[in-house]
Amino acid sequence: TIHPLILCGGSGTRLWPLSRKSYPKQFVPLVGDTTLFQASAQRLSGPGYAAPIILTNADFRFIVTEQLSEIGIDPGAILIEPSVRNTAPAILAAALHLHATDPDALVLVAPSDHVVPDATAFRAAVAAGAVAATAGQIVTFGIKPTHPETGYGYLELTAPLTDDTPRALALHRFVEKPDLAAATQMLASGQYLWNAGIFLFSVKTILAAFATHAPALVTHTTNAVKNAKIDLGFLRLDPAAWDKNDDISIDFAVMEHAKNLSVVPFAAGWSDLGGWDAVWRESAQSARGVATSGPATSIDCDNSLLRSEDDTLEIVGIGLKNIIAVAMKDAVLIADVSRAQDVKLAVSALKAKH
Ligand code: GDD
Ligand code: MG
Repeated sequence: TIHPLILCGGSGTRLWPLSRKSYPKQFVPLVGDTTLFQASAQRLSGPGYAAPIILTNADFRFIVTEQLSEIGIDPGAILIEPSVRNTAPAILAAALHLHATDPDALVLVAPSDHVVPDATAFRAAVAAGAVAATAGQIVTFGIKPTHPETGYGYLELTAPLTDDTPRALALHRFVEKPDLAAATQMLASGQYLWNAGIFLFSVKTILAAFATHAPALVTHTTNAVKNAKIDLGFLRLDPAAWDKNDDISIDFAVMEHAKNLSVVPFAAGWSDLGGWDAVWRESAQSARGVATSGPATSIDCDNSLLRSEDDTLEIVGIGLKNIIAVAMKDAVLIADVSRAQDVKLAVSALKAKH
């Protein structure tokens, strides 16, 4: 069996105003009826999968339990991180937690905020990586890149891909969030895939990698797990030990340094919904490229997203081109599609003002 580890501690500022610090994008129905978190848990349930381990913080713990019970999934454990330290300490804590019962267990790390429309194809890709993971590899999942995105990790293959069959291939190296020049070069070379942010490995493989590449995290996180307290069914990591951890992602802490990396190419559709432009692309669109949600009316618009997040709030667009408009009771966003990534600037500007 594979133990899913679902990461849902991030705050998703690029989808403001819908995604808020207190209620981030993974808990909102962005595309379709279920939330991204619920869809992630459903994708990783069923035959061959153990109950999911959820990694989050105290603010989101009741959102997590409520959303899991809505879809009838019982968590294996919910680990509460006392402060935000990014994904490396979180994944390490879950691996240490599982090590106590099963050091050979296979773990699938999954973000909670992605769209993967074909769950069957996804589980087939995971199955294709399981043999390599059992043999001691850290398995990544690779997406064919379409533009020189600087917000992703890049996976260098040992030879260009000839087909999309899901199978584990050896990986030459992992480059996290390159600058634009490097990303452009990697895209042009045809020898790189995007890192989907999903990882498969055995507990003992990842613990060995942490011991080699991030020993300080192991010391503090081991203490945080050892002194964890069970509280209303949540496993609260010990704050004094936890807070000593660096704030660092698994990509920078482990993946960029590990030698035992493999990749399973995944071609069945994946989006990290990293901005409103991605939401617009993943939503159902009219012939003229207009996506609407809630009480919204489009008159003579092209390639735009019109969303009202309130049943009593009408949104109307006339003659818009390449515009994102998101209306909520307390905030309205209007932006050019090409500037979708700059929404995080708005969040910083607002933070400075209040
Ligand atoms: N529990 C927990 N604690 N979860 C966290 C934390 C944390 O401190 N920080 C982030 N997360 C969650 C986010 O909610 C998300 O589901 C996942 O971990 C990944 O974090 P992001 O912050 O979204 O990472 P990223 O998008 O910048 O980069 C990663 O994903 C890309 C693909 O979407 C990297 O793995 C890249 O290499 C990759 O290309
Ligand atoms: Mg992300």
